[in-house]
Amino acid sequence: MGRSGDGEIIAEMVRTAERIADALVYKAAPYISETHHEFPHEILNTLRRIQHEDLRLAPEIYRVGPDARVDRGTAAEHPESSAGARGPDPTAIDDPYHARRESLFFDEDPERRAAARAEWRDELRGLVARGHHEQADREFGRTLGLPEYNFHGIPKDDRPQEQFDADGLVSKVAGRFGGREDVYPPEPSKLKYLTWAKEALNLGPDDVLVDVGSGTGKAIDFFGMFTDAKKVYGMEIEPDFAAFANQHAAGLGLNHVRTLNKDVLEESLPEDVTAVYFYEPFGSTKENDAVGTFANKLAEIGEQRPLKVAVKSANLAERLQAGGVFSLQDEKPFTFFIHGQPKTLSWKLFTSGQAAG
Ligand SMILES: C[S@@+](CC[C@H](N)C(=O)[O-])C[C@H]1O[C@@H](n2cnc3c(N)ncnc32)[C@H](O)[C@@H]1O
Repeated sequence: MGRSGDGEIIAEMVRTAERIADALVYKAAPYISETHHEFPHEILNTLRRIQHEDLRLAPEIYRVGPDARVDRGTAAEHPESSAGARGPDPTAIDDPYHARRESLFFDEDPERRAAARAEWRDELRGLVARGHHEQADREFGRTLGLPEYNFHGIPKDDRPQEQFDADGLVSKVAGRFGGREDVYPPEPSKLKYLTWAKEALNLGPDDVLVDVGSGTGKAIDFFGMFTDAKKVYGMEIEPDFAAFANQHAAGLGLNHVRTLNKDVLEESLPEDVTAVYFYEPFGSTKENDAVGTFANKLAEIGEQRPLKVAVKSANLAERLQAGGVFSLQDEKPFTFFIHGQPKTLSWKLFTSGQAAG
């Protein structure tokens, strides 16, 4: 078997290992958690580590195979691609996501790049529509080189200071780590939410989107590469996440995607904002009605001009509904699991003025 055949076999082995680990993490773990009071964090973390090691080891296994030549040509051609690479190493010859990353971000022909993005967007949407959510999220994250988030489905107070599988991404402000009980963990949006919000917000070339509490940048990267929005801002209070998101988007050449390391409750939204994405970044506490403060901020803008707001937060949705400035345009329920128990959440689209559609 030649080199490329070996590579395909290794890549397929990695994908199979991922599928087994995902089945255990997402399907078996919730059942286990029903019979144990503690969610088996260790099981989940170990599986995630194994998945990650599989990816790292694949090129090594390949290199020490029968014809042990090293081909690093692609790394020399595209040194810039390593800038967003805290995930899988894009210089690795058997990185199964390398070729796609190249065509989506580094093809010099803008038309071919746009066509590759449109094709992949449809593929991901198809996966989501058929219920293959984990696969869609995994493909998206690994292709872009985003760090994996290890604490979906765990109560927020049980999550540790380092919640990603990459070094240097540390919660310094949130909850018991920095004393801000209103600040929620950096759990990235799932593609099923982003796919819904993309359709609902219907962003055009005049739109400027702000992701409120943008974490490591999954949502802003998604909107930046799959919509026509003129600018996509993240606002993120945690300095490590904001720095990562900026370095990562720049490394992929997403020059209109930018993260501001700011507290959205203290600072104004960018003045040209036309659309807002709100994946429950914070909640109100006894001391601090963070959601009320932010609802007032949105109402101030919405009173002056059209604003579209996609919201996953029952509290903010109630405030917008009651405030008289925004009206509800669309709504979609989703199921999620905490400690293996199914719960539902609802995404809602509000608009002010003539902002609908
Ligand atoms: C649930 S994560 C969402 C990440 C991202 N929006 C996404 O959908 O993939 C919420 C993020 O909001 C940030 N955050 C919470 N309160 C904030 C505030 N007042 N200003 C800016 N960011 C905040 C948290 O640090 C966290 O990273």
